Parts: sequence; structure tokens; C-alpha cells
Amino acid sequence: MVSTCTRIRSMFRRPDTTNTLFYSSLSSAISCSITTSSVSYIRTCRIYCRVFSEFSFDKNMAHTALGTDKMNANWETDIGGMRIKYKDKSETFTEDDLKSKEPFGQFKAWFDEATKTPGVLEPNAMCLATATRDGIPSARFVLLKGFGPDGFKFYTNYESRKGQELAENPQAALTFYWEPMRRSVRIEGRVEKTSSADGDEYFRARPFHSQLGALASKQSAIIAGRETLMIKERELLAQHTEGQVARPECWGGYRVIPRSIEFWQGQSDRLHDRIRFRRREPKDKPDGILIHEGTDGWVYERLSP
Ligand SMILES: Cc1cc2nc3c(=O)[nH]c(=O)nc-3n(C[C@H](O)[C@H](O)[C@H](O)COP(=O)(O)O)c2cc1C
Repeated sequence: MVSTCTRIRSMFRRPDTTNTLFYSSLSSAISCSITTSSVSYIRTCRIYCRVFSEFSFDKNMAHTALGTDKMNANWETDIGGMRIKYKDKSETFTEDDLKSKEPFGQFKAWFDEATKTPGVLEPNAMCLATATRDGIPSARFVLLKGFGPDGFKFYTNYESRKGQELAENPQAALTFYWEPMRRSVRIEGRVEKTSSADGDEYFRARPFHSQLGALASKQSAIIAGRETLMIKERELLAQHTEGQVARPECWGGYRVIPRSIEFWQGQSDRLHDRIRFRRREPKDKPDGILIHEGTDGWVYERLSP
């Protein structure tokens, strides 16, 4: 059993430093706060590190050292205190920064930037929200596989939960979040299936194992265990050869034809930038103040964060 003092020493980035006052006072402070809450415990360590400036506190190291990392998941993270820095005032996103006066060009500019940004592993991952006829929502991630004035495309199983919801209520919302860029894009619109030729073309381009996966999985159905999928996959492997798997009828593409696309950029002072494009309606009278004239039948406006 490692003594509390040794553990506490290893919580800090300079455990070799001998400062007995630091360790003994922190040790008693921690043993009091440990019985109260993780938040006060973390705070105590931080305050001590501010006073004894030669020490720097690492929350993860502290939990590992004290063995509290697995003790109580809630201890690990002070969720209420989680807050990262967004952009500062020198990097605002204003109407003058728009790369295009219609949303597809603007989306392309941000998307291209996201693909080149380290830390954005899947810039095309987007949260897709659908709803039942009664308006009960559900959301999940899918991958964007193409976009343009005809919409934002993704591929899936038409009989899945999302497929069933889209069949009865062909409306959806998509959200991208590119964390290192502090940017998000929200898209809302009507949904249509893509053509079967489009589905065939994309299915042909998928790796062999992904093709078999689409055949093996009755997406969203309840199954007994992983073994069910493995058995099905083995059967399919025996029946198919690479390059000759036909697209199953229940699998294909959808496109979300946007009514509105919002571009959001986070600011550290929480006065975030939000510029929303929406289809121009006959009643709209762009005044260049609240409603701005876009191109290709779009207007844009700034929303309060
Ligand atoms: C990053 C990411 C990308 C995904 N891409 C797809 C996709 O393109 N198509 C798909 O059907 N499921 C994809 N999935 C799985 C879905 O999130 C979901 O589990 C599945 O589509 C079933 O959803 P449903 O039961 O609501 O229909 C992805 C999951 C993640 C986390």
C-alpha cells in the first residue's frame, strides 16, 4: 500500500521537489476534502499549486496517484467547470468573412479547411437528427459522402430506425462540429432518397468487407449477440467474391436538401458568431441590416448567440 504522502508527491509534475510544508499541508487538506466532493478536492490542489508556484498540478496524474480514477467516475471530471478557450476577438467571423453569398460555397470553404486541420479526424462526420411522424426525435452520426446545391448526401440502410423515421417524416437536421476550429454547421431540410444508380455507384466503391457488412446487418434490429453477425459474415464470405457484391435493395443514399444552413464560430467571451443562410421567401425584404441579400435565391442573417 503506497502511503498518502508518496501518492500525493506523485500527483505533481515535480515529485522530486522536497517541500515538506507543501506536502504535509496539502495532505491534510486533501484528506478533508476527499470526504466532501471531487470538486473541492480538485480546487484544493489547484489553490495549493497557485501558492507554491514551483508545483504544477495535473488532474489525471492526481487521480491515478490516489487511485480515484476508477473509484467514482464523477470524481474524475468537474463537468460544470469544463470550459475551453474558443476564438479570441481577433478571430471573429463577420459577414465580411463570408467566402460566398450562398451556403454551399461557404460550406465548401469551411469543410476544406476542416479537412486540413490537425485533430479533425473525420471532418465528414455529422449528427443526423430525424423524427417520427409524431415528432419524437432521434439522432446519430453518419458520414457525409457528397454535397452541392442538390443537397448533403449520406448512405445507410433504408429499413433502419432512421430509414423508418424518414419514410414517415422526410425532414432532417444535420450538425457538424469541428472542435479544433471551434466551428459548427447546422443544416435543416427536406430529405429524399438518391437514385438507385447513385446507390449502386457508391456501393461499388465501398471496400469488400463494408459491402458484406451492409448485407450482414439488418440495421437497428435487436440481435442475440456479436456471434450472430460473425456467422452471417462467414456465410456471406462463402457466397460472394470481391467485386461482385450487388447492392441490397434496402441500402442506399439520402440527400438533405437544405432550407437553412447556419455557420457558427465560438468566441471565448461566449458572444459567438452565427450567420444563417435560408431560402428567400416572397415576404422577405432584404434591408442589408437584419436580412442580407445572398445569391442563388438565398438570404442570410446574423443570429444572437
Ligand atoms: C462517426 C460515425 C459515422 C457513422 N457513419 C454512418 C453512416 O454513414 N451510415 C450509417 O448507416 N451509419 C453510420 N454510423 C452508425 C450510426 O451512428 C448508427 O449507429 C446507425 O446508422 C444506426 O442508426 P439508427 O438505428 O438510428 O438508424 C456512424 C457512426 C459514427 C460514430
